[in-house]
Amino acid sequence: MNKRALITGITGQDGAYLAKLLLKKGYTVYGLHARRASDTLWRLRELDILDRVSLLEGDLTDLSSVIRSMHASEADEVYNLGAQSFVATSWMQPVLTGYVTGLGAVNMLEALRLTNPSARFYQASTSEMFGLVQSPVQSESTPFYPRSPYGAAKLYAHWMTVNYRESFGIHASSGILFNHESPLRGIEFVTRKVTDAVARIKLGKEKQLRLGNIDAKRDWGYADDYVQAMWLMLQQATPDDYVIATGRTTTVREMCQIAFDYVGLDYEKFVVVDPKYFRPAEVDILLGDPRKAKTNLNWEAHTTLEQLIKMMVDADLRRVDRGE
Ligand code: NAP
Ligand code: GDD
Repeated sequence: MNKRALITGITGQDGAYLAKLLLKKGYTVYGLHARRASDTLWRLRELDILDRVSLLEGDLTDLSSVIRSMHASEADEVYNLGAQSFVATSWMQPVLTGYVTGLGAVNMLEALRLTNPSARFYQASTSEMFGLVQSPVQSESTPFYPRSPYGAAKLYAHWMTVNYRESFGIHASSGILFNHESPLRGIEFVTRKVTDAVARIKLGKEKQLRLGNIDAKRDWGYADDYVQAMWLMLQQATPDDYVIATGRTTTVREMCQIAFDYVGLDYEKFVVVDPKYFRPAEVDILLGDPRKAKTNLNWEAHTTLEQLIKMMVDADLRRVDRGE
């Protein structure tokens, strides 16, 4: 029998790559799809899988629709990727972020417990939970110190996942994923904002790029590598929590340099620091230790930041050239 999976956040970057991976493995794939006035299906179209997944209307904050999605999908594996995931927005909409990113995960856990407690559960936890880092390199045993409403909401969801595992014996795992990017990354996140601007500047459509704190450091990997780790976690006999990272950290400034260099431009001539983009509290540096994932899951990152940025700039050059 083919396995069945339910993905929340299927229209997002990771949801689209994960759906593609699971289809390739022979799964029947369902996605919880929140109704929106404008089109959110472009990633599924771009990966050419829109007609191969079944979308179930529902919202993470609406328990009844989440329960219905569990009944309709009869999922063996549930991947909770849905979230208000943009850190900067979480200060402007902290309550909504709490409902969707925090309580939304509990709605999923409850729905699973009520309908099919033997289904396996993946929670999209995040390196943002480390926030003001308590150790220069962050692993599964590093204490958390979230620095944004988003980080705090994710930490609640993370501990609830651990709690449901320990209280009810649910096969629930959390992936503590460090930043991961791709050509399907939302335009508001810094890597994609940079690669889109590089393409526009190169093709003469724009003259400058305004950024916030370019001294922040992130451990950036490729989303398509990272969704493999999500799947691997649910194939283990025992549920657990894993840091998923590359083990290399780079400043936003160096990332800009890599992107502009790739098209033969000097980033210093185009990048302008604009305090408008500074955050009320910053996560200055993230650097993950992925050794547990290597040992237990045989997972490691395969894509360098240079390869990732090249892929993203190439995709944005094509998009800008087509007038998108
Ligand atoms: P993303 O592109 O922002 O996708 C978020 C998804 O959540 C979208 O499909 C969105 O649907 C959906 N969503 C938002 N509000 C919802 C609601 N109320 N009910 C149901 N669905 C809702 O995020 P991503 O980069 O793919 O990340 C996937 C998950 O991993 C997120 O939980 C994120 O917080 C977490 N994470 C990401 C990273 C990273 O670097 N990418 C690192 C660690 C953890 P619409 O398209 O309809 O808005
Ligand atoms: N978005 C953005 N825009 N970020 C900027 C800018 C800008 O103009 N200028 C500087 N930055 C800095 C931010 O201040 C932050 O330090 C860093 O670039 C990365 O910002 P984002 O790309 O927005 O990602 P993030 O690290 O805040 O959050 C992402 O990664 C988390 C995992 O650590 C998101 O995907 C979260 O959902 C995810 O949990």
